[in-house]
Amino acid sequence: MFRTLYSKLALVLTGLLCLVGMAIILVAGFSAEMYQKEAAQRLNLDLADHIVSERLLIRDNRIDEEGMKDIFHMLMVINPRIEIYLLDPEGRILAYSADPGKVKRKEVSLVPVRALLEKAPRLPVLGDDPRNPARQKVFSVARIPEKGELQGYLYVILGGERYDSVVQKLKGSYILQVSAWLIFACLLFSLIVGLVLFATMTGRLRRLSNTIQAFKKGSSDASPGTKIPGGGVDEITLLESVFAEMRQRIESQVDELQRADTERRDMIANVSHDLRTPLATLQGYIETMLLKDKSLPEADRRLYLETALKHCGRLSVLVSELFELAKLESYDSLMVCEPFHPGELVQDVVQKFKLKAAEKKISILTNIERDLPLVNADIGLIERALENLIENAVHYTPEGGEVRLNLAPDQGNIRVQVRDSGCGIPEDELPLIFNRFFQSDKSRLNSTGHSGLGLSIVQKIMELHGRDIEVESKINSGTTFTFHLPCHSPG
Ligand SMILES: Nc1ncnc2c1ncn2[C@@H]1O[C@H](COP(=O)(O)OP(=O)(O)O)[C@@H](O)[C@H]1O
Ligand SMILES: [Mg+2]
Repeated sequence: MFRTLYSKLALVLTGLLCLVGMAIILVAGFSAEMYQKEAAQRLNLDLADHIVSERLLIRDNRIDEEGMKDIFHMLMVINPRIEIYLLDPEGRILAYSADPGKVKRKEVSLVPVRALLEKAPRLPVLGDDPRNPARQKVFSVARIPEKGELQGYLYVILGGERYDSVVQKLKGSYILQVSAWLIFACLLFSLIVGLVLFATMTGRLRRLSNTIQAFKKGSSDASPGTKIPGGGVDEITLLESVFAEMRQRIESQVDELQRADTERRDMIANVSHDLRTPLATLQGYIETMLLKDKSLPEADRRLYLETALKHCGRLSVLVSELFELAKLESYDSLMVCEPFHPGELVQDVVQKFKLKAAEKKISILTNIERDLPLVNADIGLIERALENLIENAVHYTPEGGEVRLNLAPDQGNIRVQVRDSGCGIPEDELPLIFNRFFQSDKSRLNSTGHSGLGLSIVQKIMELHGRDIEVESKINSGTTFTFHLPCHSPG
């Protein structure tokens, strides 16, 4: 029943206000009683003194214990709310006017008596009630001196015998009743205001939790970042905007994960396809050779072996490139950036392709500006990227063409360009060439030992350096790949 936050808050508030109400009534009752006592004692502080100074109690210069009872009786008839006692200097009760059965004490404590006789007593001072050993009452007291000596005390209990409980007092007093109703009304008002406030506040929380639940269930009808009208910027609004932000991030992460998953699945399909073809061919040739064995002419046997070896080579390239890509995926922590001279690196890489280019009658030219600053990057990875780009350039450029490498400073970076005069890339394929396994004409290139992973590796290397790679291409006139390397800043 009390499962919602609102019902819990309402319950706590109601309980708290009931407690406060009870406390107020108790405190009010107690202070009303004490005030009553204080007022009674203050009004009658001199009563005992008056009686003593009228000298009614003294006859023949002595305290007249016998005649006193009649006087006491008379005084109590005039004012039934008082009881009068005569005490000796030790506090023993010498005389009183009530029935002997009614008076239960033989003596009263002198401590409150002396306290009241002090100059400025703090009222109310409560003294022993001779009629009830368990109770104390307000009183008035006076010394009875005779010839300068203390003969005893006149002890007047004020306020009679009645004792009322809080409820009885309430019943008996109009003022108390009105006050009680007022307190009750105040508390009720606080309760209503509190409940309404809680309702509006928890209402917003409920809306938020509904949105969260809808999101959990995967429904998208609750729009993210719904603004609560007139809500101001409090914790709940903050929570709402944080949730909206979190939700957007989760959604984009889920999208990202799905994309990565699809990519991975495609890749597995591609890998298995690319592995199966050379494997099947390899198997075919080996089986034929085993079957025919001796009957196979020497020349054919050699051809078969060469073909098998070529497919083995393809397989090995594919597997090593896949392995390289997988290694790059978790390379972040292994990357070692160091300063090196970009011109020297380019010259080294170009050197490796000189032979292959010469075979195709392609000239590789370098255009490296003088006094280039050092760059700061992982030299091994950049070398690999350059190799892949130059290898493509040489590969996709027809005989007699040209490959050009440009290095120039560009706003704190070194711009590296690999430009060829090759076949170019169709515009609709440009966004795809960096995808794993993408090859514009698979059947043509399959036999050449190309796997379609070269540019994916280049892009991954640039990503690790926090850089982009750009490509421009024109069919039949050439392709240019451009990337930037950060200059080394000493210190
Ligand atoms: N310099 C270039 N000129 C023309 N096409 C290119 C060039 N570089 C890359 N491509 C195209 O991009 C595709 C992907 O390149 P890459 O990832 O290196 O794979 P691969 O070289 O193994 O085919 C190539 O198949 C080719 O179609
Ligand atoms: Mg390639």
